[in-house]
Amino acid sequence: MSVQSAKTLIIGATAGTGLITAKKLIQQNEPVRIIARNRLKAVQLFGTSNTEIVICDITKPNDALRDAFKGIQRVIYTAAVPPRRASEEEIRQVDFEGFNNVLAAAKSAGFKGRFVYLTTMGLNHSSFLMKILGMIKPGIVQWRLAAIEALRDSGLTYSIVRAGLFKNATAGKRQVASLEEDRPLTMGTAISRNDTAGVLIQESTKTDSRNSDVVVYWQKKAS
Ligand SMILES: NC(=O)c1ccc[n+]([C@@H]2O[C@H](COP(=O)([O-])OP(=O)(O)OC[C@H]3O[C@@H](n4cnc5c(N)ncnc54)[C@H](OP(=O)(O)O)[C@@H]3O)[C@@H](O)[C@H]2O)c1
Repeated sequence: MSVQSAKTLIIGATAGTGLITAKKLIQQNEPVRIIARNRLKAVQLFGTSNTEIVICDITKPNDALRDAFKGIQRVIYTAAVPPRRASEEEIRQVDFEGFNNVLAAAKSAGFKGRFVYLTTMGLNHSSFLMKILGMIKPGIVQWRLAAIEALRDSGLTYSIVRAGLFKNATAGKRQVASLEEDRPLTMGTAISRNDTAGVLIQESTKTDSRNSDVVVYWQKKAS
């Protein structure tokens, strides 16, 4: 266990980057609580660890969602509609309403720690990849930007992490560029879920109350 033993709540820990983040923290003996909508899946993934599992679908908030923030010092939010085709209504419900439900639960529980929010880079720029994303996920840009606004207005201390195109690769193979200004999402702005998980953990451990907003992707290989 770390000296401070700050407990992290992860929302979105049953797949993708959230799962990698949770496993990294568990490996470091850090206390973790997760919110999952599917009990069986969560128990299969985390049942043998000391991870606390709270069952809640963020689009159908209940008291468990608010209670999940009790005793929590850090939040890492990676939940989203799954990486496949989705309707605008699904995107609105999960990526905006669900996110707002989580913010409301955090505030109502009096959460005072840092809220780390993972989203996609390039929301503020048009690019070929963003157009494709908009075809697979109509309204994604609008609802993700609205979620960012909601976080900014929430009064919570936050980190926004805008990641490049995800690749599955081990961590630390490439240098990660971290910028404060959004960039267009392109094939050249990729990053692994593993490296992104590292950034999320790093952001979550910041102890000051300054908000941060970073864009992360792999730096170009030196030629
Ligand atoms: N794909 C890319 O190239 C890319 C690039 C940059 C950023 N991003 C963003 O990074 C984030 C994470 O993406 P990812 O692909 O790593 O993760 P992912 O595989 O999409 O995992 C999403 C997680 O959210 C959970 N979830 C979905 N709906 C939920 C609900 N209603 N209630 C509770 N939990 C719910 C899922 O639970 P279940 O396991 O139950 O489904 C899962 O744990 C997303 O915001 C994504 O847009 C993606």
